[in-house]
Amino acid sequence: MGDKAGMTPPSRLLRSALFVPAANARALEKSRTLRPDALIFDLEDSAAPGEKAKAREALRTHLSGLGAAPGGPLRIVRINALSSAEGTEDLLAARACGVDAILLPKVESAETLREAAEALDQTDAPRTLAIWAMIETPFGLLEVSSIARQGRSLRLEALVVGPNDIALATGIRPGPERTEMLPWLMQVKLAASAHGLLAIDGVYADFRDAEGFARECAAGRRMGYDGKTLIHPAQVEAANAAFSPSAAEIAEARAIVAAFAQPDAQGRGVVSLDGRMVERLHLEGATRLLAALEQGGTQAG
Ligand code: COA
Ligand code: MG
Repeated sequence: MGDKAGMTPPSRLLRSALFVPAANARALEKSRTLRPDALIFDLEDSAAPGEKAKAREALRTHLSGLGAAPGGPLRIVRINALSSAEGTEDLLAARACGVDAILLPKVESAETLREAAEALDQTDAPRTLAIWAMIETPFGLLEVSSIARQGRSLRLEALVVGPNDIALATGIRPGPERTEMLPWLMQVKLAASAHGLLAIDGVYADFRDAEGFARECAAGRRMGYDGKTLIHPAQVEAANAAFSPSAAEIAEARAIVAAFAQPDAQGRGVVSLDGRMVERLHLEGATRLLAALEQGGTQAG
């Protein structure tokens, strides 16, 4: 079932992905100064029906005014559904602006990904232009396994949870620990792991509640999520910190790599490190962690 390449999680740090409403000129301007791992310029939910065309043009102007910024935040555009009047124009505008990924809202089947991938292929989009998918409806949650499996050949790179739409569509009222949503959150994470995709946790709306936000980040990290979508600049630093490997984890990874590099560890599957058993599978995880850190450069907090 699992293709070997697909099972390797991406070694890229994607701890913080800030939604920037393209309909809000001040937010667009502010985003120049911010350093999340990704900026998601939004043309969907945060733009009212009557302002979508204007938001798209404002975004086009904004993005074409930005130079290349290697090492800066990924640039992602959340477009309206391709089945809507705006979707295709959004996709073409994002493609023309040379963004890193297109985020599709409310994905419910791999067919939606195929449609977007074909539209991108028709514009000769580079292979590096990725598709991210929001999983935020009951059908999306039910189909997430097939979306992730088929998405691998359709530019899919990340699954993003949309808790507000999930709550609206299902009538659940998640408490502070999100107990009511845990099975679905884990299902998305499992599908991402099975197919080597990034898993990005949902937004935390109360942007003045730093404590609650930190708790939810920590829970997301324990669930194996790579990072979190954000709605406010005040959340960037805390998310970067929460989803970065801790100093202890980094030290442990270095110790594991060093232990397997010892001459007497050559060819051995298991070694002992400070009185604990360490296997080659731990070496794999340690190597991946150190590679992601290196790739994240100075951003690693
Ligand atoms: N991206 C970039 N800049 C943002 C921002 C964001 N998501 N949210 C706020 N800012 C800016 C504000 O424009 C303001 O800049 P200024 O001082 O130059 O005017 C500064 O950060 C402080 O903002 P603040 O006054 O605390 O909040 P606000 O009342 O302006 O905005 C929200 C609050 C919730 C309306 C706003 O954060 C927002 O629109 N978030 C994103 C919503 C979204 O994209 N939803 C869809 C995905 S769920
Ligand atoms: Mg939504």
